[in-house]
Amino acid sequence: MDRLTLYITRRLPQPVLDAIPRNYHVLLAPADHLPTADELRHGFNQADAVICTLTDRIDASLLSHATKLKIIANYAVGYNNIDLPAATQRGIVVTNTPDVLTDATADLTWALLLAVSRRVVEGDTWVRTGTWPGWTPTQMLGADVSGKTLGLIGMGRIGQAVAQRAAGFRMSVLYASHRLVPSSPGTTWVWLPLDDVLAQSDFLSLHVPLTETTHHLIGQRELALMKPTAYLINTSRGPVIDEAALVSALKTRTIAGAALDVYEQEPLVSAGLTSLPNMVLLPHLGSATLETRVRMGLICLDNITALLENRTAPNRVN
Ligand code: DGY
Repeated sequence: MDRLTLYITRRLPQPVLDAIPRNYHVLLAPADHLPTADELRHGFNQADAVICTLTDRIDASLLSHATKLKIIANYAVGYNNIDLPAATQRGIVVTNTPDVLTDATADLTWALLLAVSRRVVEGDTWVRTGTWPGWTPTQMLGADVSGKTLGLIGMGRIGQAVAQRAAGFRMSVLYASHRLVPSSPGTTWVWLPLDDVLAQSDFLSLHVPLTETTHHLIGQRELALMKPTAYLINTSRGPVIDEAALVSALKTRTIAGAALDVYEQEPLVSAGLTSLPNMVLLPHLGSATLETRVRMGLICLDNITALLENRTAPNRVN
């Protein structure tokens, strides 16, 4: 019997590569780089299974020649990079990596929230560049976090994990979501319509998937509803925010600041954003811990093995 071909579009952490079943024939570029369209086509055309990432655009035309392909295991919880209806139409199973990156992404959300409100990056720059003039009572004043109101847009696994962490800061938690979510023991999470969450939050954090409905969910109108003292945090997907509207809201101090891990046109970041001091900008690090990235890879392999052994892929999304 022919060996099954597994195409992996990017170099994954070594423990994941070491866990690949020995009976698979692996296609993996020797050096890590964003695959060209030709490389993707070549890989997809030969593969029985693919592990791809959020930076690979998997469209109908790419899938149209992938005649052997049975499963695409997306190395991410979000799968907006894949044309799901096209995959479904061709009988190709698509899976994602839920749960294992929830804590890492929630932790990074808090890192951003604290960094922007306490001006961590600005302070670090002062110290490193030798421009710190010495302590003064009015220097680099930020905003309290403890006791404030945290607003969450989207209350799936990551939104809930962010909300759980807010208990340690004695924060009130409001959320807008298409469904009601029971609060964790000892906490109260209050559902409100989106506009009310926008208007009442001191910190607003986004945790929705990118879909047609959530594209530019936060634009000029929504930013104008926020408090001028509020901070916006985004670890979901860049296009959920209208970046041009955000730049203008930050310039005019419609809101106090923003902290972003994701952008509309990654890896490009609007020049307007990089020139603003009331911003913290990270390069899409939500799930970027070694432990998490290994678990994500192992989930991809579990799904592939299950499907190729005629079992149900546990994290199937189509
Ligand atoms: C995801 O899984 O969707 C994350 O953005 C990857 O870091």
